[in-house]
Amino acid sequence: MVESLLDRTPLNNGYTIPGIGLGTSGMMGKEAEDAVFYAITHGYRLIDTASVYDNEEDIGKGINRAINAGISRGDIFLTTKVWKTDMGFDQAIQSFDESLNRLNQQYVDLLLIHWPDKDDAVNLDTWRALESIYESGRARSIGVSNFKRADLVPLLEEVKVRPAVNQFEMYPGKSGQDTNDFCDSENIVSMAYSPIKKGNISKENRSMTLAKKHNKTPEQIALRWAVQRGTVPIPKSSHKDRIRENADIFDFFLDNEDMDFLNDLDMDKNDKKRLRDNIPGTLERKKRRKFNG
Ligand SMILES: NC(=O)c1ccc[n+]([C@@H]2O[C@H](COP(=O)([O-])OP(=O)(O)OC[C@H]3O[C@@H](n4cnc5c(N)ncnc54)[C@H](OP(=O)(O)O)[C@@H]3O)[C@@H](O)[C@H]2O)c1
Repeated sequence: MVESLLDRTPLNNGYTIPGIGLGTSGMMGKEAEDAVFYAITHGYRLIDTASVYDNEEDIGKGINRAINAGISRGDIFLTTKVWKTDMGFDQAIQSFDESLNRLNQQYVDLLLIHWPDKDDAVNLDTWRALESIYESGRARSIGVSNFKRADLVPLLEEVKVRPAVNQFEMYPGKSGQDTNDFCDSENIVSMAYSPIKKGNISKENRSMTLAKKHNKTPEQIALRWAVQRGTVPIPKSSHKDRIRENADIFDFFLDNEDMDFLNDLDMDKNDKKRLRDNIPGTLERKKRRKFNG
């Protein structure tokens, strides 16, 4: 498990990824540039953007400012993504060329397919483009986003380069357990987006209990949970105090009871729905899981 902002987790291709990063969706212009610069110069090493966020130019400026301030490019991990409307081999190559140009970088550390197409053949065609970008060295690692087990299985049967990462939505109450388990079994790192529920995690009394126990904020509890379960959270903030707060999660530990409590939040919700819909199974599985530890 990562123990600090600078610690890294191995990827399946020999590269490594920092244990937590800065999300940038919704930031633009100077705000985005400043947030990225502030985060990197205060210890963050992973920055997540996407062509669809319309901020790659600003993100690139923030990164280049940090490099000018003495941070090595090799220590920074930059992710971008190919959007839904750029699926297919030629479009994906063109989209990436444009991203790299806007970012004003020689390479990115991770390039993702942003969303799966419902047609597996389209996903594979797009993946072939990512493989060719990977072979050229312009993306050091490649991966997917929002892929469930059913999207990954057909892709994995055909790939020449295996996805290193799957980025999908996870926070306490939405654990993405099935996708997470599958990614673990395939040696694919799970990256958690919206890890503080788009800023709404503190509205829930249930994470407040653990926050009080550890003298931390509910956001920090959610992010610590993400890190302890081996996922890579990328909380977004353009506020300096929150950028610092979200990274201040390496001085406390969630014990098994705390982790069980957070892991079970969405099981409880599913249980209720299944009971209401009279679908058997979940409670038995839950009991088995508890028995197995
Ligand atoms: N692959 C995908 O399809 C996908 C989808 C969604 C997101 N993402 C990525 O994941 C990143 C994070 O997800 P997200 O932006 O959806 O949600 P999030 O990180 O869970 O939450 C961000 C929101 O929480 C607020 N916030 C941040 N820190 C806080 C704190 N300590 N206390 C209270 N509020 C806080 C932010 O406001 P301020 O900025 O005002 O602080 C912002 O409104 C995105 O930025 C993006 O990079 C990827």
